[in-house]
Amino acid sequence: MAKKVLVPTDGSEHSMKAVRAALELAEQGLAEVTLMAVAYYIREDFEEMPPNVQDKLDAQAKKALRAAKALFEEKGISVETILETGFVPANNIIERAEKGKFDQILMGSTGMTGFFKRLLIGSTASKVVSTAPCTVTVVR
Ligand SMILES: Nc1ncnc2c1ncn2[C@@H]1O[C@H](COP(=O)(O)OP(=O)(O)OP(=O)(O)O)[C@@H](O)[C@H]1O
Ligand SMILES: [Mg+2]
Repeated sequence: MAKKVLVPTDGSEHSMKAVRAALELAEQGLAEVTLMAVAYYIREDFEEMPPNVQDKLDAQAKKALRAAKALFEEKGISVETILETGFVPANNIIERAEKGKFDQILMGSTGMTGFFKRLLIGSTASKVVSTAPCTVTVVR
């Protein structure tokens, strides 16, 4: 039976690797895939904040979802997508994995917001690995 697999994506190279790995599983009938992007939520009530920052963050998350979904559509494989906003993407991912009764989370080791190129594992991946309610596979 196909496992329910949650694939968090931020549009980064590593997250797209995870998307492709999930697609392979889906093609073999081993996975039912849900793609998830979390747009950073920011407060726009600070005067210093340039306008439409939230719109830009939302657009970035939507773009990441579209790019990932397109790979599935090319192969004619069905896929769900979830777009959320949050301060700490890992918290959204963990909560979604719990509520959606996912069997596995498949994600990249690093992402878009990494400060140091030498970082081996990002903070989102690290937190999800430590606290997720299910198996987590990190793609490098
Ligand atoms: N906003 C997000 N929405 C969905 N998935 C995300 C998001 N941010 C990260 N991920 C997932 O987590 C993986 C690892 O990214 P992570 O954020 O941990 O590393 P980083 O961006 O390099 O470093 P950091 O965020 O700690 O500065 C990504 O490949 C992606 O699968
Ligand atoms: Mg990040």
